[in-house]
Amino acid sequence: MQYSKLCFTFILLTISFKAPFTRSENLTCNSYDLRSLTNFSSFIDYGLDWNTSDSNCCTWTGVTCDHSTVSSKRVVRLELGSKRLQGIVSESLAGLDQLKILNLSQNFLHGYLPARLFHLQNLEIIDLSNNDFVGPIPGGSNLSSIRYIDISGNIFNGSVDATLCESSSYIHTINLGNNYFTGEVPANFGRCSSLQQLFLNDNQLSGSFSKSLCQLRNLRILNLQHNLVSGPLNDEIGKLSNLVELDISSNRFSGILPDAFERLEKIENFFASSNNFNGHLPKSLVNSPYIIFLNLNKNTLNGPINLNCSAMVHLTSVDLGSNNFHGPLPDVISSCQRLTNLNLARNNLGGEVPFAFKNLRALRFLSLSNSSLVNISSALATLQHCRNLTSLILSFNFHNEQMPRNVNFHFRNLRVLVIPYCELRGSIPTWLSGSKMLQLLDLSWNRLCGTIPLWLHDFNYLFYMDLSNNSFTGEIPESLTELQGLNNMNRSAERDSSGFPLFTFGADGSRFKYKGIWGFRPTLDLSYNNLTGPLCPGLGNLKELHVLNLKENHLSGAIPDSFSGMINLEVLDLSYNDLSGEIPLSLEKLSFLSKFSVAYNQLQGDIPAGGQFLTFPPSSFEGNKGLHGRQLTPFQPQQAPHDAQRADEETKIIGLQFGLGVMSGFLFTFTLSFASGWVFAKNHQAQ
Ligand SMILES: *[C@@H]1O[C@H](CO)[C@@H](O)[C@H](O)[C@H]1NC(C)=O
Ligand SMILES: *[C@@H]1O[C@H](CO)[C@@H](O)[C@H](O)[C@H]1NC(C)=O
Ligand SMILES: *[C@@H]1O[C@H](CO)[C@@H](O)[C@H](O)[C@H]1NC(C)=O
Ligand SMILES: *[C@@H]1O[C@H](CO)[C@@H](O)[C@H](O)[C@H]1NC(C)=O
Ligand SMILES: *[C@@H]1O[C@H](CO)[C@@H](O)[C@H](O)[C@H]1NC(C)=O
Ligand SMILES: *[C@@H]1O[C@H](CO)[C@@H](O)[C@H](O)[C@H]1NC(C)=O
Ligand SMILES: *[C@@H]1O[C@H](CO)[C@@H](O)[C@H](O)[C@H]1NC(C)=O
Ligand SMILES: *[C@@H]1O[C@H](CO)[C@@H](O)[C@H](O)[C@H]1NC(C)=O
Ligand SMILES: *[C@@H]1O[C@H](CO)[C@@H](O)[C@H](O)[C@H]1NC(C)=O
Ligand SMILES: *[C@@H]1O[C@H](CO)[C@@H](O)[C@H](O)[C@H]1NC(C)=O
Ligand SMILES: *[C@@H]1O[C@H](CO)[C@@H](O)[C@H](O)[C@H]1NC(C)=O
Ligand SMILES: *[C@@H]1O[C@H](CO)[C@@H](O)[C@H](O)[C@H]1NC(C)=O
Repeated sequence: MQYSKLCFTFILLTISFKAPFTRSENLTCNSYDLRSLTNFSSFIDYGLDWNTSDSNCCTWTGVTCDHSTVSSKRVVRLELGSKRLQGIVSESLAGLDQLKILNLSQNFLHGYLPARLFHLQNLEIIDLSNNDFVGPIPGGSNLSSIRYIDISGNIFNGSVDATLCESSSYIHTINLGNNYFTGEVPANFGRCSSLQQLFLNDNQLSGSFSKSLCQLRNLRILNLQHNLVSGPLNDEIGKLSNLVELDISSNRFSGILPDAFERLEKIENFFASSNNFNGHLPKSLVNSPYIIFLNLNKNTLNGPINLNCSAMVHLTSVDLGSNNFHGPLPDVISSCQRLTNLNLARNNLGGEVPFAFKNLRALRFLSLSNSSLVNISSALATLQHCRNLTSLILSFNFHNEQMPRNVNFHFRNLRVLVIPYCELRGSIPTWLSGSKMLQLLDLSWNRLCGTIPLWLHDFNYLFYMDLSNNSFTGEIPESLTELQGLNNMNRSAERDSSGFPLFTFGADGSRFKYKGIWGFRPTLDLSYNNLTGPLCPGLGNLKELHVLNLKENHLSGAIPDSFSGMINLEVLDLSYNDLSGEIPLSLEKLSFLSKFSVAYNQLQGDIPAGGQFLTFPPSSFEGNKGLHGRQLTPFQPQQAPHDAQRADEETKIIGLQFGLGVMSGFLFTFTLSFASGWVFAKNHQAQ
């Protein structure tokens, strides 16, 4: 009471002093707003560059005032997104009673939110996403003008509540994603009649699918991904005639899919992967002319794959992997002319790849792993006609067949070829030399023999090659040391230009960014073969290589000193070979090396004791009679480098490493949770 009285007096004073003398352009910010902001800033420990001695707060970064010509200017927008702000949000912020837009997203703010913030009558947009705010959403809120609320990516908990909608009839977007909300989706969400986008993804919401959501006739996006919602998906979902995207993946839904897609006349994206849906594909779904992206991966759906391509004219991406669909591979799919992505891996299909698949001219990504396919010759002969094919994944098929060799297949656009675990016989086929765009090649766990071909160095973009567990003989070709994708950052950066179909969501709900294949660390894996001869010193040129695995071969000679040139190396496994000489001291320079083994060789001399070598276990060195001198001293932090330039360099590399690490971690998660079946997780390489 006293507070507002005081303010009133203050405002009066301001008016009486200023109004007669000033013209509109001289008006500065309202003193009440000034005090609110000054108080707000006093709780921000870092990141705010406001000059609070300058009393015109309208000029401060992120502050926008109205065009008032009457008294003083009122603050209507506070936009401080991505400013690295640290600290808490003080209650005084709620004093900005003319505020229309509040954006504090992507900072490091923490603590509870002041409840009064949820009573700002003029607030239309509030974006507090990606901070560390805690606690429940303040109850009894009254934001009568709110249209858009995003509090995703925080540590909010408690139950979700739609009382917001009771005070505002304009609200069109609610994003509560990526928090720790629990309990059921309450029925009062049905009152959010103007709601167009509802994101509840990545929480711990449980219970069954709330029918009340089906009352939201204006809803365009409903995202419940990654929660614990169980039971059937209600037939009433068909009432959501404006729905464009429905994502209920990674929940515990069960029962059959509702035959309600006829009524969903705007639906483009339906994602229900990683649930327990069973039964057949509903008729209305396989005849939906609206669906563009369909993902039902990891359920227990069965029956035939009877997509009706004459009806599904917009179908672009289909993921039916890891279900119980029965074969043979349906040739009807070949009339889906727009299809770019197709995953049917891990079903009970079988037989040959239908010849009609050659008509899939738009196809870019195809996975048919673990589908009991036979006849790799006919499969490749057919698929080479899919001229846009960039990723082909055929693991666990063609048991013990011969790799076709003396033929003229053309896979000119292929970037990713993955055919491991097939026990294929023969050698690396020469037709592969025409696939100059290749970035990732996995032919591991076969029975291929012969030498590693010299023409591999023509593959300017190759950065991942796994030929492990075959019967390759001969030397490691010197030409591998010229691989541009492993030599040169610019080349390796280009691999981002194409990639796996990893569906990702931005915090803002933007969808379908195609990410590259960054999830894979630059790798050369030739382990478990019969390779002989020396380690070529030139391998040290492979600055971008992260994993070099040459375990279990018959390689001999010394470990080249130049190996220290592989500055990004994280894994180096040379165990079970016939290597002799000493471990070069220069390897201490490999500052990212986290796994190292030279066990079971003929090495001798002292084990280096600096750099990462302090962290390797004794088992990394066992089985070498001549190796000695390793003192198992407790780990001691290294001294900071004296040389300033070197310190700089390290910071840069670490910075970059960090960036890539975060990125690959992120994508790896998606590879596992979304696109599983496109590639198989390789248990023999589990780190
Ligand atoms: C403010 O008012 C004074 C005199 O009334 C005038 O000279 C000046 O140009 C005005 N504008 C600003 C931005 O100071
Ligand atoms: C900010 O406002 C609160 C009351 O809302 C008050 O207790 C506090 O002293 C103020 N802090 C500053 C630095 O003005
Ligand atoms: C802050 O504002 C005051 C008053 O306008 C001014 O005198 C001072 O130079 C400003 N300080 C900075 C660092 O800009
Ligand atoms: C808030 O700011 C961030 C970062 O500046 C921006 O990306 C985001 O779009 C803004 N939010 C809204 C709702 O405009
Ligand atoms: C919510 O989080 C707060 C702060 O982290 C904690 O004290 C509280 O127990 C949590 N409440 C629930 C219901 O989990
Ligand atoms: C919200 O606040 C406004 C203005 O104070 C008031 O008129 C309205 O009744 C309140 N609504 C609710 C649901 O409390
Ligand atoms: C497939 O779709 C076409 C076009 O909508 C339709 O005429 C045909 O009856 C459908 N076929 C089946 C088996 O449903
Ligand atoms: C292959 O698929 C079958 C079921 O179709 C499954 O049991 C098996 O685990 C799969 N193998 C791999 C390696 O994924
Ligand atoms: C094949 O890819 C090219 C280049 O991306 C594209 O322009 C073309 O339309 C694609 N072909 C088909 C049939 O989609
Ligand atoms: C594989 O398919 C080809 C036709 O593409 C056929 O000539 C060949 O006999 C088939 N091989 C086997 C083992 O069925
Ligand atoms: C190599 O592959 C065979 C199957 O081809 C498998 O049985 C064996 O375990 C694999 N060995 C290693 C070391 O991965
Ligand atoms: C390597 O060659 C030896 C004979 O030289 C053979 O006994 C062994 O099975 C081969 N190993 C592999 C993995 O092919």
